[in-house]
Amino acid sequence: MTMNGKTVIITGGNSGIGLETGVALAKAGASVVITARDPGRGKRAVEDIKDRAGSDSVELVVFDLASLASVRSGAAELLDLCPRIDVLVNNAGLVLTERRETEDGYETTFAVNHLGPFLLTILLLDRIKESAPARIVNVASTAHKGAGKGLDFDDLQNTGRYRQMRVYAQSKLANILFTTELARRLEGTGVTANSLHPGTVRTGYGRDGDTTGLLGLGIKLAARFFISPEKGADTSIYLASSPDVAGVSGKYFVKRTVRQPSKAAQDVDAARRLWDVSEQLARAVGDATPVS
Ligand SMILES: NC(=O)c1ccc[n+]([C@@H]2O[C@H](COP(=O)([O-])OP(=O)(O)OC[C@H]3O[C@@H](n4cnc5c(N)ncnc54)[C@H](OP(=O)(O)O)[C@@H]3O)[C@@H](O)[C@H]2O)c1
Repeated sequence: MTMNGKTVIITGGNSGIGLETGVALAKAGASVVITARDPGRGKRAVEDIKDRAGSDSVELVVFDLASLASVRSGAAELLDLCPRIDVLVNNAGLVLTERRETEDGYETTFAVNHLGPFLLTILLLDRIKESAPARIVNVASTAHKGAGKGLDFDDLQNTGRYRQMRVYAQSKLANILFTTELARRLEGTGVTANSLHPGTVRTGYGRDGDTTGLLGLGIKLAARFFISPEKGADTSIYLASSPDVAGVSGKYFVKRTVRQPSKAAQDVDAARRLWDVSEQLARAVGDATPVS
């Protein structure tokens, strides 16, 4: 595969799966822009990608997906920096042990894993369409199956008893439903949208106190059985670059293969409803959101 002349944006590109996706796509010739919430970690990752990929064309944009104002300024910076966007990889995500709220008053896992990436994608969408054929890749998880009863529209902010894997499962189900509706809206534009499960990967999940107690301990103990971040990035890289999936859209992939996600993740009505609710939530914070 060659990615010469292509521009790829990867959120959460300073660590784990996102970092390895950046290295591989930069090696393949793409201009890579990573986003990170921490400038220091972001700068170190840019140097690492340049070094390992032998590329000079790696840039950083710093913003926090937990803040819709920050997402708006990050999107504006990305639009300034990138005359074209051939691939957007919505990779950043987290899992939290305890309920926290963002500055916008939204539950943080929902905000970082779904609402921030939703708004970012919408704000970049015209540029992505102008760059068609183009691709949007959303890193979901097989953990979405934990939300077997579907998205809890009555409590999207997870105000009930906080069970971290339930909350995480809901957010990853949202990633797949978002992909479905996005792909439907993009039909005929030459832009594809697909989601994926990367495998169980030895990455930064559980670091920095994001997961404490039993979950954190469990992750640390089990880590030796996980796959490497390089392997975990494989399906993201495939969906971002392979000619095999040119024109394939609205699908969920595991190990480079189309798989059926859970029944709840195939609910097209829930996908449309999530889009509408997400628009409202994004519009409720900050004025004049150019959400179309
Ligand atoms: N690891 C697995 O086994 C696994 C399995 C299924 C799905 N996934 C998915 O894979 C994706 C990548 O995760 P990973 O395993 O590579 O974990 P990771 O190493 O922790 O990477 C997550 C990235 O997201 C960034 N991030 C977190 N909160 C953010 C925020 N508020 N604003 C901006 N960026 C933020 C992190 O930045 P910091 O470095 O600043 O924290 C980091 O760059 C996630 O969407 C995750 O749900 C992972």
